[in-house]
Amino acid sequence: MKILVTGGSGFVGYRLCEHFISGGHDVEYTYLSHDCSIPGAQGKKLDVSESKQVSALSVGKYDAIIHCAALANVDLCEKDHALARRHNVDATDNMLLLAKGQDAVFVYVSTSHVFPASASNRAYTEDDIPSLSLAPNYYGRTKLEGEILVRGSGIPYLVLRIDQPYYWKKEWHKDNTVTRTIAKLQAGGTATEVVDWFNCPTFVPAFCELALKLLSRGKQGVFNAAGPDYVSRFDWAVKVAEIFGHPKESVLPVSAASFNLSAARPNILLDSGRAYSVAGVEHVGLDSGLRQMQKEWGRGETGA
Ligand SMILES: NC(=O)c1ccc[n+]([C@@H]2O[C@H](COP(=O)([O-])OP(=O)(O)OC[C@H]3O[C@@H](n4cnc5c(N)ncnc54)[C@H](OP(=O)(O)O)[C@@H]3O)[C@@H](O)[C@H]2O)c1
Repeated sequence: MKILVTGGSGFVGYRLCEHFISGGHDVEYTYLSHDCSIPGAQGKKLDVSESKQVSALSVGKYDAIIHCAALANVDLCEKDHALARRHNVDATDNMLLLAKGQDAVFVYVSTSHVFPASASNRAYTEDDIPSLSLAPNYYGRTKLEGEILVRGSGIPYLVLRIDQPYYWKKEWHKDNTVTRTIAKLQAGGTATEVVDWFNCPTFVPAFCELALKLLSRGKQGVFNAAGPDYVSRFDWAVKVAEIFGHPKESVLPVSAASFNLSAARPNILLDSGRAYSVAGVEHVGLDSGLRQMQKEWGRGETGA
């Protein structure tokens, strides 16, 4: 397949590119401010919120367009609605227009934040239809607007909702709970994580395999694509400490109320079993994901 990945310089997009390349696919990616090089792929600078720049791309013929680029900083989205709308809604519209011209499958990487907090820990499945009026924060609202544009576009699509993606990061990527905890504990300090934020952490290599398998099997539609566990950030960090050989007491609990953040962080339980089963891909839980990372660490990975 000839695949275009927007946001290939981003934390998730970078690994998607690597995975598609290792599967023998022809990959092009875009970046905005981080001119990174991804061996085996061709990168180009592109602001996906600029319709003229996007339409100029249509010289190539893509089988799939993976739209990963977004403003994923929830607090910045809350503070600057216009910016969030430009990067998350207008940009999606631009990319959909391009996909229509290319006859390509459109893969939209979305988020659990399209839903409000789970009531009584009830899991959301793909049968639950999120509503704009209930979006928990502005980021979630703009990502849901993007989903709605994709669903109404009339072209073949996959919407894949993830939550707290984790794996090794490149220097320019922001930390995730795993890399942050490892970096703090390796430096001999303590790590602090929130006890009352719950997530379904998504192991990025499993997500990349899921995306490729769904595409190559010709599957379409909306899928929850997060990990199988529902844990607090604190319990997650304690697991990291244990698996990477640090005392669990080196992780200290903190409550969300001690931060003064702009955006709400709802506790959202996603049932993502359907996607992994349809794709025939292992739904990798925290223990397995962290153990794989620990082995890679032993082989010299320094991504924290
Ligand atoms: N991280 C999470 O916790 C999380 C959770 C759920 C869903 N998601 C979704 O997963 C996807 C990937 O997120 P991520 O964690 O990989 O985010 P990230 O590391 O912040 O990467 C964002 C990517 O988007 C690019 N980008 C942003 N605005 C752009 C624009 N106007 N034009 C072109 N490129 C632009 C960035 O380019 P430069 O870096 O080159 O500027 C970067 O490649 C997003 O769609 C996000 O909504 C993320």
